[in-house]
Amino acid sequence: MRIDLMAAWQLRGKRRAAQCPPGTARRGWRRCNFPRGAEARLAMHARAGPSRQRGGARLRVLPIGAVLTVLAMALLAGRGEPAEVPLSGGSPIVIGHRGAPGYLPEHTLESYTLAIEQGADYIEPDLVSTKDGVLIARHENEISGTTDVADKFPERRSSRVIDGSRKEGWFTEDFTLQEIKTLRARERLDFRDQSHNGRYTIPTFAEIIALAKRMGRTKGRVIGLYPETKHPSYFRSIGLPLEEPLVALLSRHGYTDARSPVFIQSFEVGNLKRLRRMTRLRLVQLIGGARRRPYDFTLAGDPRTYGDLITPAGLDEIATYAQGIGPWKGLIIPMRKDKTLRAPTRLVDDAHAAGLLVHPYTFRSEPRYLAKDYGGDPIAEYRRFFRLGVDGVFSDFPGTALQARAAVSGR
Ligand code: G3P
Ligand code: CA
Repeated sequence: MRIDLMAAWQLRGKRRAAQCPPGTARRGWRRCNFPRGAEARLAMHARAGPSRQRGGARLRVLPIGAVLTVLAMALLAGRGEPAEVPLSGGSPIVIGHRGAPGYLPEHTLESYTLAIEQGADYIEPDLVSTKDGVLIARHENEISGTTDVADKFPERRSSRVIDGSRKEGWFTEDFTLQEIKTLRARERLDFRDQSHNGRYTIPTFAEIIALAKRMGRTKGRVIGLYPETKHPSYFRSIGLPLEEPLVALLSRHGYTDARSPVFIQSFEVGNLKRLRRMTRLRLVQLIGGARRRPYDFTLAGDPRTYGDLITPAGLDEIATYAQGIGPWKGLIIPMRKDKTLRAPTRLVDDAHAAGLLVHPYTFRSEPRYLAKDYGGDPIAEYRRFFRLGVDGVFSDFPGTALQARAAVSGR
């Protein structure tokens, strides 16, 4: 194992950058500045640190707690290979993706509660708007796949174009919150437990914040929030923008700066840049398949794809407005059609070199989602990604992710 003080110093700079919104310099250890303009961008790029040579500094020196974590990861992983470490220097975070939907219907207070009970560091609500402008947790605004809306409001079926595709169904923007509250959640995937269908309500984001705060007090630990804006250009186009109520609600509950336990994520770019001007909270650029485009790029006639965004130049641009990326995990370890894995890409190292955290999605335990290489063992998948130095994982089975993290890092 190589001890590299220069790499340690550079990494510490990147960790500082990851704690502050982009375009801000960090004075000392405890605070961020918030200058604007070219000077700030220059400062940030100066912090970006070492060259992008993959494997150049395979084990970096960190404060003592992180060193112990790294040693434990290297030893317990048991392969005798050096392990990369998260940019944040500690253990990767576990994000309860839509709660704990491996067990309970997604985006319900019960599912988020279970994720927290299992030990998730963050819970992840996808957010859409009601007709009266209230943020609620649903993965999409067409809600017939995850609620009993078709039974309760058969006459409200309609059709519209969302992000360029025509959809038929029932749309949250046609329902007041009072109406939404009459619905009950359903499991979307037929191979998951259907026995909870019809039992749980659709939560507002305000209720999710209250849950995180309440359970944080009970558990004696901080429960983070990782909200995603869904279809942000669409909602703005119909006069129900997501960003203003999101920032206002978070601010009202004391989540105001880069130290707050919040990441706001989006697959679009323009709304993250807008959010950058509205809040100091940390932002995460979601990255879809390499050939796909952020929908706001499509609207603007910008030909760039997600593949362009994860080049070194693209990552540098992301670092001007976000603290991290949330890539589809196949961009880190691609899988062949026969479900065997290719060699890892450079994405984790390249993102870290740009000062960006890396939180890939989505980890699911069912064998149908696992590569053959893992032999049916979801822990093996987490272990592989943790060894590549990811900073967190979105998981449908947060308890399993926690189990894997404990096995690898001792945390
Ligand atoms: O937000 C991370 C991941 O959730 C993105 O995918 O479609 O599950 O929201 P999706
Ligand atoms: Ca999401």
